[in-house]
Amino acid sequence: MYERRSIDIMRFVKFGDDLISSNGVGTWQFGSKEWGYGSGYARSTAKDILRRALELNVNFIDTAELYGFGASERIVGDALETDRSKVFIATKYFPVVPLPPLMAERAYGSAKRLRTDIIDLYQLHFPNPAFPLECQVGGLRRLLDRGTVRYGGVSNFSLSYWQSAETVLRRPLISNQVHLSIISQKPLLEMHPWAVANDRVIIAYSPLEQGLLGGRYSLDNKPHGFRRYTSHFSNEYLVRARPLLFRLTEIAKLYVATPAQISLAWLLKLPNVVVIPGASSVSQLEKNVEASEIDLTDEHFEELKELGNELSK
Ligand SMILES: NC(=O)c1ccc[n+]([C@@H]2O[C@H](COP(=O)([O-])OP(=O)(O)OC[C@H]3O[C@@H](n4cnc5c(N)ncnc54)[C@H](OP(=O)(O)O)[C@@H]3O)[C@@H](O)[C@H]2O)c1
Repeated sequence: MYERRSIDIMRFVKFGDDLISSNGVGTWQFGSKEWGYGSGYARSTAKDILRRALELNVNFIDTAELYGFGASERIVGDALETDRSKVFIATKYFPVVPLPPLMAERAYGSAKRLRTDIIDLYQLHFPNPAFPLECQVGGLRRLLDRGTVRYGGVSNFSLSYWQSAETVLRRPLISNQVHLSIISQKPLLEMHPWAVANDRVIIAYSPLEQGLLGGRYSLDNKPHGFRRYTSHFSNEYLVRARPLLFRLTEIAKLYVATPAQISLAWLLKLPNVVVIPGASSVSQLEKNVEASEIDLTDEHFEELKELGNELSK
């Protein structure tokens, strides 16, 4: 039987010269209407989640200018201004037109909303191959040289595009934020081994598959908001996901944990991986942080890996 230890044991991952908590907080939900959490969530719950995260030694917060069209960054800035030195804030540039002067302007806007002079990690939200790579990363170079940004990162880049971006930038882009979970394992094939061998970090987004791996959704109980209409919450997918969700629940019982916690523990078994689950309540945040204390056995890791691979076929 798994023995729970106290919650103050947070794991950290080397990020350049910094250490970031392997459990971060994703904040797309903050101020974003599409999640359907309402104004009370944006006004108070979101800030409570951040304050509690800090108390639990979480120091990595991920946001983006796109989330709630700046609302998420504003909430993060308001909640954490007094504790700025204790947190490592990552935000993202929405690169529809990735021209260096525009990027500098947008970084300034993000920093202002975040109430900070320096952005710890500035990420290109996705690649934009309509523009040359020099154009996409040129803005990052300027921001790094000026010290407006401490680290540059990418998101949704393939391994080869990530490597090319570094070559063009002529310095490391420490992290790539990609979709990674028990049922979205593609980054584990080539990207993850390269990241481990080269001191890079993979930031796993949607680690709970937007709540699916929490195990409480079914044909009769679908989430509200945009998720209801996404492929992972379609009738067909919910039926196909049953064997995985069933085993996830069984395994969770062995660890006196929840399916969501096991899903995060599965990712946290991987070196150089940081998870950034979103949360709809403070208690979810607490549960997610607790997942870093679960030491999943190799057998359970492999079994879930197999089931997840089956589902993604
Ligand atoms: N770079 C990118 O392109 C990109 C794309 C997507 C996301 N992201 C980032 O990654 C973060 C996380 O991804 P995500 O928000 O898409 O999905 P996620 O973290 O997989 O799922 C978050 C949702 O799962 C449910 N949940 C959270 N903790 C739970 C728990 N302990 N037990 C049961 N259910 C739980 C909550 O929804 P309910 O309670 O309502 O079910 C919550 O809103 C985002 O906030 C954002 O920062 C980045």
